[in-house]
Amino acid sequence: MFEINNRRYTGSKAKLSTWILDKISKNCSGEIFADIFAGTGIVGSEASFKYPKIILNDLLFSNEIIYKAFFINANVDEKKLNIFVEKFNSIDPQKISDNYFSLNFGGKYFEYDDAKKIGKIREIIEIEKSNLSEKEYAVLISSLLYSVDKIANTVGHYDAYFKKNKMRSLFVYKLINYTPRNSEFFIHRRDANELAANIYADIVYIDPPYNSRQYSRFYHLLETLTKWDKPELYGVALKPTPENMSEYCRATAKEQFIDLIKRINCRYIVVSYNNTYNSKSKSSKNKITLDDIKNELSKIGKTKVSHMSHRCFNAGKTNFDDHKEFLFITEVGAFDE
Ligand SMILES: C[S@@+](CC[C@H](N)C(=O)[O-])C[C@H]1O[C@@H](n2cnc3c(N)ncnc32)[C@H](O)[C@@H]1O
Repeated sequence: MFEINNRRYTGSKAKLSTWILDKISKNCSGEIFADIFAGTGIVGSEASFKYPKIILNDLLFSNEIIYKAFFINANVDEKKLNIFVEKFNSIDPQKISDNYFSLNFGGKYFEYDDAKKIGKIREIIEIEKSNLSEKEYAVLISSLLYSVDKIANTVGHYDAYFKKNKMRSLFVYKLINYTPRNSEFFIHRRDANELAANIYADIVYIDPPYNSRQYSRFYHLLETLTKWDKPELYGVALKPTPENMSEYCRATAKEQFIDLIKRINCRYIVVSYNNTYNSKSKSSKNKITLDDIKNELSKIGKTKVSHMSHRCFNAGKTNFDDHKEFLFITEVGAFDE
């Protein structure tokens, strides 16, 4: 079974979540924890072992369905799901016709027969939707997303695929771990600034994108597979027309951040920041500086900062000198005498 961290995702805090939660529990108190740029959901997932109420939010459809699969607090019909797994893994690509997925992505992001199977599976899940609970439907789609990620012919996102002459069929459909947690989850798919005005949380964790790379463009293929709206695709990377573009990836990022921390109703604001700036790539340059974050948070309340060198959690593999991960913790409304 796939666990929540068994996927590739740019900026995932999978290797840092224990450190982050440790700092949070030493410096903050409360019951409601919000992860409002949740990405994989790994930080919210880790928080659910400490806090009884968890709010998860992200702009992407594929992330929202993954949160529902892992965290909706309901039982599923295990037998029914296992019958689907058997059925999906016994699909013979020679006996089925082409579909949206194989026609667009076959021989590119996936080996041709694998793409045919993936498209067919997605088609079956949609046909069966009325016979599935919300959680079961989410589990079947999320399991497809995780299984697809394991074999995609990419570096982990869908900005490009490797050009290969020969590809092997590798696809296996496996379920995600759908065991319910004890905490209560509230799942949203909204712009974080809009959501902020409408929720209360004791602790709000903020981990936005800091450069111009749009997540909805990186993960367009997972979005298309989730929504199954079969859009027209463009360019070599086969992307649909843009949607869910984040203001945090644009020149106005700093204003967005200031607006967010002003409107959010909470006791503690926790912000992740890293200096992944690579001088060769303009798109990787951060739109908000470390000083901006420090200055703006200090206006809201007493702010502490911790950092960790990437060498500590990346086994020494980093191209950047002095590449650090920062964690700011602000006690809202508290100031030193
Ligand atoms: C750096 S990633 C978060 C990674 C996450 N902490 C993890 O461990 O996987 C930033 C996330 O913010 C989301 N995002 C970008 N702009 C957003 C916005 N305005 N509102 C909500 N989510 C947004 C992206 O889709 C992306 O998943």
